[in-house]
Formats: sequence, structure tokens, C-alpha cells
Amino acid sequence: MRITTVIGNRPQFVKAAAVSSRLREVGEETTIHTGQHYDDELSGIFFAELGIPLPDRELGVGSGTSSDQTARMLAALEPELVAARPDLVLVYGDTNSTLAGALAGAQASVPVAHVEAGMRSFDRSMPEELNRVLTDHASALLLCSTPTAVNNLERESAAGEVHLVGDVMADVALTFAPLAEDRSRALVEHGVEEGEYLLVTAHRAGNVDDRRRLERLVALLESLPLPAVFPVHPRTRARLEAAPELADRLAGAPGVRLTRPLGYLDFLKLLSSSRALLTDSGGAQKEAYLVGVPCVTLRDRTEWVETIDAGWNQLVDLDPEATRGALDRPPPAGDRPELYGGGRAGERVRDLLASYTARR
Ligand code: UD1
Repeated sequence: MRITTVIGNRPQFVKAAAVSSRLREVGEETTIHTGQHYDDELSGIFFAELGIPLPDRELGVGSGTSSDQTARMLAALEPELVAARPDLVLVYGDTNSTLAGALAGAQASVPVAHVEAGMRSFDRSMPEELNRVLTDHASALLLCSTPTAVNNLERESAAGEVHLVGDVMADVALTFAPLAEDRSRALVEHGVEEGEYLLVTAHRAGNVDDRRRLERLVALLESLPLPAVFPVHPRTRARLEAAPELADRLAGAPGVRLTRPLGYLDFLKLLSSSRALLTDSGGAQKEAYLVGVPCVTLRDRTEWVETIDAGWNQLVDLDPEATRGALDRPPPAGDRPELYGGGRAGERVRDLLASYTARR
């Protein structure tokens, strides 16, 4: 089997860490990096830390509006797929690189496999939601993290084959947690004590691109009851630089430590040692659940609904009072149900890709 994998940004590098080496046990994989993320701290460090094979091709597309970025990726991917003629194109998640990979594959008549298929927030104003829906309906093999995702695809009558495989990010978090524990010095470096601080991430366009929402985010961070470590994503940094009075307020917020984006091991260590995670990321909500840290989600809905049902995640949008209430509520006692496949998703993806390509 010959697979071309299209990746391009941080969460996809993490997901590829669960799958690439497994695919290479049974077939040939070529990876194409679109260049959506290009800074070392969003890209290179993940290849180094997670041992992902280096990309075979780099398209160097860089930043831009969603349409412009996706269009440039498509134009660059077409000749690659025409030349390589793989048996299958593999894409992950819900970013512009995901959509470009899926569309380029479908247009070149190469079947597409989508890992993390079927996730829905039902909020079409999110660029990610549009990417998810379009990618799923262009894909032949829909590999789902959760039963909810399977149901979403059934309701939409998606044409591809649907399989529940579990979540590949769970494989990576479970594999690397002991290593992070061992190697990371992040607590000392950021001057925080085990269980005595919050970890914050915020980069959704819906939270940071709108000046009023960004102001609400800053006000929420000013009101936190505990010290907080906030690795600032480049999108958020750029929006803060464009609003210097908000940047100043944040820099002066008591207890908030602003840092550069973190590598995977430091992030995992800071997460697993924190009192709680405040985030608008999708992946981080899952990672918090996996390491047993309560999550407070800075959105009014989530794709990862089972973390809410299990009592480990609460939606507060950007409301400081709701945030304090969520932080006061202890997580449920007892074992956490296994929601994401127990660390075997990568193997299932490998096996399904192999059987699909063998049947064609
Ligand atoms: C993208 C994904 C988002 C994902 C996130 C993970 C889309 C629509 N969004 O958002 O779903 O959660 O990645 O991080 O695909 N920039 C840099 N260096 C880089 C890359 C970007 O400084 O290496 C800056 C640029 O100013 C750029 C901005 O960050 O304009 C946003 O980057 P972009 O890739 O468009 O989207 P993300 O916000 O990273």
C-alpha cells in the first residue's frame, strides 16, 4: 500500500506520531507538509520530540486567509498527487491543511481517509466546522474517534465507510506522559508548583479575532483565582500586538505568566501537574481528560461532548463568574470511563487502511 499523508500544523504532527510509524510497518508512506505552521515552536519541535518521520515534501504555503491558504495548498498538492499516484491520501482533523488534502485527493481520484472524522460543533461560523463537514463528504474512509462522531456521519448520510477507531491523540498522550514526567523541567522553568496553578490556552479565531471577545478573554484571565501559565499562540500574539492596551493589561494581570508556545513534552507536563486547564482548543480538552485534569472550556459548545457528560469538562464561554464556578466544582470521584480507545487507535487506522487498499 502506498499512502500520501498531508499534514501542516501542530495538532496534525501530534496525530501523525500515532500513525506514521505504524503505517510504515505494512506499507510505504510519503508525508507532505503544507507549511501552514512553519515556526519551529509550532512545527520542528514536534518532529524532534515525537520522533515523527521528517516530511518528504514541504510546500511552504505559509499564512493567509482561509481561502487564500487553502487555494495555494490545493494548487501545490495537485501535481504532487498526480506524480505520486498513491493508493490513498490520509488527512487528520479539521484545519485548512485537512480540507486541502482531502479536496486535492478527491479531485485527483485518489480515495481519502479522514482521521477524526465526524466531529461536529454545529457552529458553521467556525472555519474548522466547515473544514470537517467538507472533508468528511469528500472522504472514502471515515475513521472516527467516538460513537458520537459515528452517529453524526450516519445522520448526514456520509458516503464513505465509517469506522470507530478511537482517538489517535490518546495514543500519543498515553505513550508520552511518562516521558514528559521524566524529562520536562517546565514547572521549575515557569515557577509554578504541582497542583497550584492553571494552564491556559486560547487561539480560536472566534475568541481572539474579534476585539470585544479578546477583551473579554483578557478580563477573564485578570480575574483568575490562581496563578496561570499561558503559552501564547502566534495568532493570539498577533491580535494582542494589534491591541496594545489589552496586551498591557494581560502583561500586568496578577499571577498570569505569559510564555512562548510550548513543545509537546512541556505542555503535557504542565497540563498533568495543573489544577485545571482553561482552553478553547479541541485537542487539549481531550488531553486534559486523558491525564485526569479538569477542563474549563472557553467556548459555548464543544465537539468533545463525552468529556462534558463524564463531568470532567465545563463550558463557560468567556464568562469570568462561570469560570470561577467551574473551578470550584471538584471533578467526579472514581475511575474515568475510557472514552478514546485506550491507546490503540493508531493500530486500528493502520489495519483499516491496509484492508481498504487491499480490497481495491
Ligand atoms: C490552525 C487551525 C486550528 C488549529 C490551530 C492549531 C485552521 C483554520 N485553523 O489555526 O484549527 O487549532 O492551527 O495551532 O486551519 N503563525 C505564525 N507562525 C506559524 C504559523 C502561523 O506566526 O508557524 C501566525 C500567523 O500570523 C498566522 C496566524 O498565526 O496568520 C494563524 O495561523 P493559521 O495557520 O492561519 O491558523 P491557526 O490560528 O494556527
